[in-house]
Amino acid sequence: MDRNLALEVVRVTEAAAMAAARDMGRGERDHADHLAVEAMRKRFDKIDIRGTVVIGEGERDEAPMLYIGEKVGGGWAYDDDRSPRVDIAVDPLEGTNLCATGAPDSLAVIAMAEEGQFLNAPDTYMEKIAVGPDCRGVIDLRESWTWNLERIAKAKNKGVRDLTAIILDRDRHQDLIGEVRQAGARIRLIGDGDVAGAIMTVKEETGIDVLFGTGGAPEGVISAAALRCVGGEMQARLRWRSPEERERGRAMGIEDGDRIYMIDELAAGHVLFAATGVTKGYFLDGVKFFGGGCSTQSMVMRSQSGTVRVINSTHRLS
Ligand code: FBP
Repeated sequence: MDRNLALEVVRVTEAAAMAAARDMGRGERDHADHLAVEAMRKRFDKIDIRGTVVIGEGERDEAPMLYIGEKVGGGWAYDDDRSPRVDIAVDPLEGTNLCATGAPDSLAVIAMAEEGQFLNAPDTYMEKIAVGPDCRGVIDLRESWTWNLERIAKAKNKGVRDLTAIILDRDRHQDLIGEVRQAGARIRLIGDGDVAGAIMTVKEETGIDVLFGTGGAPEGVISAAALRCVGGEMQARLRWRSPEERERGRAMGIEDGDRIYMIDELAAGHVLFAATGVTKGYFLDGVKFFGGGCSTQSMVMRSQSGTVRVINSTHRLS
């Protein structure tokens, strides 16, 4: 994955974040998402890639832009070997409700890999455990949450009661939340945004040790790409909401619907990840507007080098 591409990709997440941030707090999640999608789509054409969206806004009939299978990037215009072929996972506005209410940690996100390296995740749920590099090799989704907490605590050289798990605040997580409380760990419940939740596990200043629970499968692949870049770990399994969904998964090539995926089965090979904060969050600042412009904060990372760049930008807006 070309190093210069990383900076190009940030321009795309910045454009999406600036567009969505205009709608912050307006209570219109779909409109904010639409603004982010449009901005991202437009900006992609300026990058010299032949990209295929493999995780996007849905299937072609559901999404006018950034649908699964859509070709993006300026390279298609002169289809030859000059520009790389890449697969792209996008979430133009991750945490639409967070943006609609002005809550922390909504992001504009892109992950990129060489062709065929992302799990083509169907639009269903995914059960996830995600941890930072200091807990590589200690988690196991087949074991209980308590077992995992004990292993994480040991790896971090602290007690279970010193750990904080981040969990989506959902009814389906009642048993999970009960078990984590029983084990004695602390919890940060979030309304939305488990991509941000997964990334927090690698940033010590967030105080988050582990992400547990079930969220979107596309978000799971994007989170895996982010964690791959910094040596974190994730394990996941698809959680089907209906037999029809399982069938659609089969049609997309998922033969064993109950399989546990390791991080490099979710996002393999050389991976690039970029995110720009839309609303101010725990690890990225949000978009701030001032007379004539705005500022953004983004992070971009590549698995090849493990470099994490935080980019503060000032934009002149006409
Ligand atoms: P959107 O950006 O599409 O609103 O998704 C937000 C999110 O919270 C994800 O971070 C998470 O993976 C998923 O929704 C959980 O789905 P649900 O809201 O159905 O529990």
